[in-house]
Amino acid sequence: MISLGVLGSGAGSNLQAILDAIHARTLEASVAVVLSDQPGAFILKRAEKAGIPTAVIDCEGHPGKFPEAAQARTVCLLKEAGVELVCLAGFMRLIGKPLLEGFPERILNVHPSLLPAFPGLHAWEKAVEFGATESGCTVHVVDSGVDTGRIVSQARVPVLPEDTPGVLHARIQVEEHRLYPATIQKFSDQLGENKV
Ligand code: GRF
Repeated sequence: MISLGVLGSGAGSNLQAILDAIHARTLEASVAVVLSDQPGAFILKRAEKAGIPTAVIDCEGHPGKFPEAAQARTVCLLKEAGVELVCLAGFMRLIGKPLLEGFPERILNVHPSLLPAFPGLHAWEKAVEFGATESGCTVHVVDSGVDTGRIVSQARVPVLPEDTPGVLHARIQVEEHRLYPATIQKFSDQLGENKV
């Protein structure tokens, strides 16, 4: 059974989907620790409610940067908790060298578009503005770029003419909550078979 560490900055609905899948036994994993750069983030409340240890990553007052020292501390926290696979779930800082070297090819992210289309922030807004007729979500391995890592899985949703960005994001999130736990299971199976 693989040990996960989840990093998020916001609502944590993807953490909840992971926890629900573990509870339903469709995902054979445990969440060892949940970390956030935002002390007030709801993802921490969800973790506490589930009895999972949490910690806040101190980013030294930088609003968007992820200082290398903070990344090194994050690696320590994850290793101390026995984490084997790191899952980003709405984590809003760019991952750099210390974390990538601490967990090579062992960091996954879920992104709300069909990458390589619409990387970066507010992907669902970009899809509506562009007039896309289809969007979706992507689970990918994290590298040093913005949503550029190897794609592991994708799910598609239609974009309807009357969609607002919020309506589209909600539709995408339904798919994220299904795709992310299922992909974590598949990915960890492959890790066990030394295929990744
Ligand atoms: C999701 O849409 C995810 O794709 C993106 O950030 C959002 C996080 O949502 N990376 P939540 O915090 O898991 O509810």
